[in-house]
Parts: sequence; C-alpha cells; structure tokens
Amino acid sequence: MKLADNKATLSFSNGSPSVDLPVYQGNVGPDVIDIRKLYAQTGMFTYDPGFLSTASCQSAITYIDGDKGELLYRGYPIEQLATQCDFMETCHLLLYGNLPDAAAKIDFTKRVTNHTMVNEQMQFFLRGFRRDAHPMAIMTGLVGALSAFYHDSTDINNPEHREISAIRLIAKMPTLVAMAYKYSAGQPYMYPKNKLSYAGNFLHMMFANPCEDYEVNPVIERALDRIFVLHADHEQNASTSTVRLCGSSGTNPFAAIAAGVACLWGPAHGGANEACLNMLEDIQRMGGVSKVGQFMDQVKDKNSNVKLMGFGHRVYKNYDPRAKLMQETCKEVLTSLGLENDPLFKLAMALEKIALEDDYFVQRKLYPNVDFYSGIVQRAIGIPVSLFTAIFALARTVGWIAQLNEMIGDPEYKIGRPRQLFTGSVRRDVLPIAQR
Ligand code: CMC
Repeated sequence: MKLADNKATLSFSNGSPSVDLPVYQGNVGPDVIDIRKLYAQTGMFTYDPGFLSTASCQSAITYIDGDKGELLYRGYPIEQLATQCDFMETCHLLLYGNLPDAAAKIDFTKRVTNHTMVNEQMQFFLRGFRRDAHPMAIMTGLVGALSAFYHDSTDINNPEHREISAIRLIAKMPTLVAMAYKYSAGQPYMYPKNKLSYAGNFLHMMFANPCEDYEVNPVIERALDRIFVLHADHEQNASTSTVRLCGSSGTNPFAAIAAGVACLWGPAHGGANEACLNMLEDIQRMGGVSKVGQFMDQVKDKNSNVKLMGFGHRVYKNYDPRAKLMQETCKEVLTSLGLENDPLFKLAMALEKIALEDDYFVQRKLYPNVDFYSGIVQRAIGIPVSLFTAIFALARTVGWIAQLNEMIGDPEYKIGRPRQLFTGSVRRDVLPIAQR
C-alpha cells in the first residue's frame, strides 16, 4: 500500500485530543483512511452498516468506477474481455493476473477439463433432496459437500491445495448445476464431454439426453460464455465479502465458496435475475406493456415495497456496463432463435425506457444492472427461471476463489471480526422463574 502525502486528522468537540490517521492511495479510485489503530488510540469504533464507506481489504483483481460505469478485471475493460476473450481466458486472468497466451490457454483448459466429473457418490447425495427443491438450496449443499469428497485439497494455507481446489471448483460447478437441473427434471445425469468448450459442455450436460444426439448451437454457446465472463467477478460485493470472511477463519475453500453461494441466493444480489424475470412475467400476466405505468407507480410508492428488479446498484451510479453487453447478447440470441418479438423483451425495453426518463430513477441514479437482461437470455436458451442464480454462482466461482486466494496471500489479512454499537440491555441479574 502506498502512503499518501497527507494525513487525516480526527478531532472531537469534547476536548479529547485529536488523532492523526494515515491515508493510503490505491492505483486508482478513492484514497482510504487507515483506522486500524483508532480503537487503541481513542477507545472508539467506527460505525458503517452495509460498508458504505469502508474498504474491507486491499485488492488487485477487479476495479469498478461506478460513476463512469466502468468495470475492469485486472485492468482490462469488461467490453474488451467480453468481445475478445472467452471464459477460460477470463478465469486464467482472474486467478493468475495475466491473460494466457495460446499455449497457456490450452494447458489451463486441459487442467480444468480433467476435473469436470464429480465423485460418483455425489448423485446419491443429491437423492436426499426433494425433486422440487430450489436449485440454490441444492447448490449450497453440493458445494459444501465437495469438502467431504476431496480431502486432499482442503488446507487453505497450502498453496497446492488452494490451486487444486480452485481448478476443481471451476471444473465441477457446471456439472453440479446441470445435475441439480436434471434431478429436478427427473432425467438421467449426463456426464461431461471434455471435447466441448466450457459453455458447450454445460449446455450438453443440461440439454442432452442418452436417447438423442445433441448439437451445441454456437450462438447459444457464445451467449452463455458471455454470461459467464460478465459474472466472473465484481470486487467486494456481498457474496465475495462472505467468501473472504468465511475463509478468514481458515476454513477449507469448498466451505468458503458454499458460503458465497448461500449469500448470492438473496434477491438483492444474485437472486435478482430470477426475481426480475418473475417480475416481467407478472407484469405480462397483468396486461403487459399497457400496465407498465401502473407498475411504475407501485415501484415509486415507498409503502408498496415493490422494487424494479434488475435496476439499481450500490456501486454503479451510471449504466452497468455488463447490462449493455447483456442487452446486445439478448438481441443476438432472440434473433438467432426467431424470437425477435418476444413479449418479455419488449416489456423490458419499455420498462427501461420509462425508468431512464423518470425523475424517481434519474434523481437516484438508478440504471439497469446485469440482471435486467440476463434472465431473458437464459429463458430463451431454455434454462428454467429457478436455475438462473445457480448459473450466476457457477460463473462467480472463479472470482470468489481468486479473491479468497488473494486474501490468504495478503500479509495484512486477519480473521474478519467486525465490532458493534451495543444497544441492548446493560448487565442485569436473572430472577428466579416465579418472579419474572
Ligand atoms: N427500484 C426502486 N427503487 C430503488 C431500486 C429499485 N430497483 N433500487 C434502489 N431504489 C431506491 C431506494 O428505495 C432508495 O430510495 P430512497 O433514497 O428514496 O430511500 C434509493 O433508490 C437508494 O437505494 P438503496 O436501497 O439505498 O441502495 P443500495 O445500494 O442499498 O441497494 C440494490 C442496491 C442493488 C440492493 C438495490 O438497488 C436493489 O434492491 N435493486 C433491485 C435488486 C437488484 O436488481 N439487484 C441486483 C444487483 S446487480 C447483481 C449483483 O451484483 O448481485
């Protein structure tokens, strides 16, 4: 970390002595005030629920400029990665810090494809779930269970274990998501086919069956690969912070990633793609585009608790660059499948247009996020709505692992242990039960 020339001085109106706090500069983005010694110096904590102004770590992986609407993985703009690189290259970039050359790409892809199968016992584990279980409920269970199958890579402090568990997680996530789908559909699991691409193999495991040949549609394969690239990392979001916090106790990588999956499930985070598609379908049932005005009134009414899902972001106060790329993919997929007149796409465009012009959204700087269009693409591909968040988890796994490994390698890392402002009862004595 680079010390800035200036310091921050914290003074108090009650006459307590002021304290100087060091300021650090990143390579880009806001400086940070180092408050680690604040408690020792003043006996006070800072208060920042939701981490609105708190940098929880230093990181060199992903950078977002929310005002500009810019997203960089290891310095590369998401637009360039999405159009010039595939998901395997992106994984290599996030994990190791550099884009692979042709030989390194072949080597990395081979290492991943060597691990696409899961232990055969996994299917018996799956059988314990109800057929109608939500795929994210299944995924939290399955990913956590990986640590029970791969005992040889559970030591988070061993770099070789971290490397092999990273490769295993990236390789096995598509297999597990497809198994969760096949289980709910009552169809046989399809083993991975390693001659296919990462996205092509996922499509095969999802949509092939033992009775018919299955041809991967290159447009769909490319669209899915783009979904993976766009979701691969997003700096210190809720699930990534969960993975870091969970991993900071020294737990094994599979358990830490399972915690990330659980966090991602929520509708304010990864669950938004499912919630967004459900919202579009609800409006469609109510009457479609003609009901958009009525729906928007509900969204703007604070008492209604209705949100425009797929809109708004903690960091982006401009168009989410992933949403633009996703809208492009959406058009490409719908055109290739002959679904240009898809009513949900039209509805989404109508909602977006109104929201971008409406004062409520303009004043709050609410723009479409990645989830606004990703659901429409996935639905067109034939992926059931309840599986959307599991696909987000599949794609984000590499980001989670890269961030977890970065944390373990950071000499400044400590077990995460936030403080609190206590507002409960002060000390009191237990009365005998008859007197309470
Ligand atoms: N619809 C209507 N109003 C909204 C929305 C929305 N989607 N998002 C924010 N607002 C309002 C919010 O009510 C608040 O208004 P006011 O200042 O009058 O109280 C203001 O905008 C600021 O919002 P906030 O809730 O304080 O912002 P936040 O940073 O805490 O929340 C968010 C960010 C993503 C949770 C929120 O925008 C949201 O719930 N959006 C819908 C869910 C969604 O699409 N999530 C996906 C995020 S992108 C994928 C991912 O990274 O997981």
